[in-house]
Amino acid sequence: MHEIADGHWKGFEGEDIDIIIDLVSILEISYLPAGFLSSNCGLNNNWKMKEYFKGKVVFITGSSKGIGKATAELLGSYGARICLNGRNIESLRKTYTELKAKNIDCMQIAGDVSDSEVCFRMIRKIVEHYDRLDILINNAGISTHGMIRDLTPEAWEKAIGINTMGSVYTTHHALPYLLQSRGTVIFISSLAGKVGMPGHSTYSVSKMGLTALARAMQIEFSKKELHTGIIYVGFTENEPDKKILYPDGKYRQILSRSQKTAKREEVALSIARAIYKKKKALTLTAVGKLQAVCLRLCPFVVYMILKKANRDYTKLYD
Ligand SMILES: NC(=O)c1ccc[n+]([C@@H]2O[C@H](COP(=O)([O-])OP(=O)(O)OC[C@H]3O[C@@H](n4cnc5c(N)ncnc54)[C@H](OP(=O)(O)O)[C@@H]3O)[C@@H](O)[C@H]2O)c1
Repeated sequence: MHEIADGHWKGFEGEDIDIIIDLVSILEISYLPAGFLSSNCGLNNNWKMKEYFKGKVVFITGSSKGIGKATAELLGSYGARICLNGRNIESLRKTYTELKAKNIDCMQIAGDVSDSEVCFRMIRKIVEHYDRLDILINNAGISTHGMIRDLTPEAWEKAIGINTMGSVYTTHHALPYLLQSRGTVIFISSLAGKVGMPGHSTYSVSKMGLTALARAMQIEFSKKELHTGIIYVGFTENEPDKKILYPDGKYRQILSRSQKTAKREEVALSIARAIYKKKKALTLTAVGKLQAVCLRLCPFVVYMILKKANRDYTKLYD
């Protein structure tokens, strides 16, 4: 529920309702007939969803590893034709070989999304190969950290160059083909893209920009012309060799975290559902849903938690 400028209250929006339903199911406030019905409808919906993806050409940026790779495997198993991407040619080839061994129709396109010219060439290659593009998942992204006083211009440039501009360039060059197929654009954001995250401001800034872009696109294009969705991912298990961007602008190995994390396969399934159901926005994980409700109803609670995170920052990275 939002308080608008003149003090009147506006009703719940679509995503608010989804979040409340999810919270209710997380808290297991359900009764048997409802649960029975929804689980049976779920089976039916799953079948319909698989049919929906059959033959669709899907470009997933940053799909040689992590969430992108899990999404490529899932949509590929539904019969979608997958365009894999990443900068490191070796890991890209490894993923391509794994998917091919599972009989998934796919192609590999190495390239850095922070370069507009490279994005243009990648999209051209896809359309030359498959003759169309139905779904773009802007997933390529880097995690970053650093207190504002320590952050270098290089760190800012890389975070925004990849996380924000990478999605802007790819979307820009893919747009004519996506409009032709009346397709879908998905932006992969983060819970940190909803708040100014202390110790991670480069990341927050780079992901918050995606919300503005997704919202503007949702107004500029009707759902029939083009579906635009944004997904706020929560803490998810990392690849063992995952590197993140440090405040000096250099990549180093991520330190192991003790937080409870979502499985990459669960995130991939949520991405598939968001595309199939043409969701405008989706917030993942129980923490994410709680954060969304608190940001609407009692934002001070979120800021108290962020202040604690700020105090704990040095324990995480020192
Ligand atoms: N994991 C989480 O807890 C979490 C939480 C919230 C949001 N997210 C978001 O989810 C997305 C995926 O995260 P992840 O944890 O799966 O990351 P990951 O395991 O580090 O994988 C990132 C993928 O993106 C590629 N990539 C990175 N920079 C690229 C660039 N400039 N151009 C092209 N490809 C690039 C990587 O390959 P190369 O390195 O070879 O290029 C790799 O394939 C990101 O946008 C991230 O911000 C993740």
